[in-house]
Amino acid sequence: MPKPQEAWSSKLGVILAVAGSAVGLGNFLRFPGLAAQYGGGAFMIAYFVSLLVIGFPIGWCEWGLGRYGGRYGFHSTPGIFYALLKNRWAKYLGVIGFIVPVMIYMYYVYVEAWCLGYALNAATGNLSKPGMNYSEFFSRYTGAGVDGIALHFGLYDVGIFVVIVYALNFYFIFKGISKGIEAVCKYAMPALIAIALIVLVRVLTLGTPDPAKPAQSVLNGLGFMWNPGDVWTGLKNPQLWLAASGQIFFSLSVGFGVIITYSSYLTKKDDVVLSGLTASAANEFCEVGLGGLITVPAAFVFLGAAGIIGQGTFSLGFNVLPEVFARMPGGQLFATIFFILLFLAAITSSLSMLQPGIAFLEEGLGINRRASVALLGLITAVGTLFVWYFSKNLKALDTIDFWVGTLMIFIQATILIIIFGWRVGIDKGWEEMHLGADIRVPSFFKPVIRYLTPGFLLTIFALFILKNVFGWNFAWGDAARFEPTGYVKDLVGPSHDLVARLSVALVAVMTIFSVVLVQIAGKNWESKPLKEEDR
Ligand code: ALA
Repeated sequence: MPKPQEAWSSKLGVILAVAGSAVGLGNFLRFPGLAAQYGGGAFMIAYFVSLLVIGFPIGWCEWGLGRYGGRYGFHSTPGIFYALLKNRWAKYLGVIGFIVPVMIYMYYVYVEAWCLGYALNAATGNLSKPGMNYSEFFSRYTGAGVDGIALHFGLYDVGIFVVIVYALNFYFIFKGISKGIEAVCKYAMPALIAIALIVLVRVLTLGTPDPAKPAQSVLNGLGFMWNPGDVWTGLKNPQLWLAASGQIFFSLSVGFGVIITYSSYLTKKDDVVLSGLTASAANEFCEVGLGGLITVPAAFVFLGAAGIIGQGTFSLGFNVLPEVFARMPGGQLFATIFFILLFLAAITSSLSMLQPGIAFLEEGLGINRRASVALLGLITAVGTLFVWYFSKNLKALDTIDFWVGTLMIFIQATILIIIFGWRVGIDKGWEEMHLGADIRVPSFFKPVIRYLTPGFLLTIFALFILKNVFGWNFAWGDAARFEPTGYVKDLVGPSHDLVARLSVALVAVMTIFSVVLVQIAGKNWESKPLKEEDR
């Protein structure tokens, strides 16, 4: 649609924005939890293979397609697919590119509010009171104990922080690409890396704080996280591959519909190859080099392996770590800055989840920024209220994260790579990706993009279905069992769960709503000729 084009104000700005989208709670909470759970070495091999086979290639394709679609004046996945495929049905392939970021935002922003709330509670000493029961605090604060219990607005409740983070996110998104997102990331990214380095130095110099427990040393903590264990047994476990590849998607924000939107504001002169590589490298530095060395070793030193094993991602960050900080010298300060670090990491990611929705509403419905911000605010608020109210065992959050934050991302990524490699065509796509590029992607990535990545994705998808829907434990003969996972049993069968069903109903309603919006958008787009701008 011919609209005044927004643009990034600098090359560094767009890299920081994409890195800001990538570096998030996934780096400092999800990654260490998974690496510890699956045993460092084997997990890391699967993780780096996934980075090479899906992370880099899909990322580059997303950057390339986004910029190409941007030249037709489109900035949302449905619009970009419509313009590039020149087919009225193609826009529907992009529906997930609208649903995924919007629905992930609904729960991600709730966790972002916990981060800010925990920072205040840590700063005021609330988290280090003698006799503090951390899991009770976590259950009440987040609502993980009882539905509706977290819907309070006192100074130390989460409510006020949900309002604050909503206001901040929508304020900055309203300011636009360069004055909002880019400006935030320019300050937040260096700040979060500086804070992470400070916390890292604190953790690595903890030594052996309890002489009565010599085994609980920093070195052993690092070993617990990183020792390879039985690598071969690990690599034969398909669940480890599912976890590792899922982490690559989540962490790099690949397949989210974010990179395609961000890169649509670039021009032919910009180097998307180098930008993609740099943003991914920054993410890996924060994930492996910082996130991987802080959370688990710190918990190990004070609580030992028993304090870590079996803890979920959120429990590790919001239940175990506050207790760990309370036991270390200077813990109040370090807890405060650690939760500020989580908040900064989260806000640069949550902002990125809003822009695809804003872009779609603007170009699809022909409305201005004020109206699109208001509409998206309304849509996301409904979802956040839902997750916030149905908080017991974080059921709604977890269910939406599974169906949208895992399954839909996977489908979107598969659509994307197939469009790039097969519909736009690998040669045209390759040429497009390298416009303005100072470096070249090694040409062996051509067959990777065309064959290996889709093959890898389809294999992982088959494993995913076998495990989650049919419940196969990946054993043969007498040892083979077929029991669907909780996510499927929550929906069908005698042990179904009402909140899980409602959560999936919300995803279904959102999907129908999005299809209708895309249909309306299509009518607007199809009434005007497609025109490629030379920029
Ligand atoms: N990529 C973001 C994260 O890691 C969503 O949290």
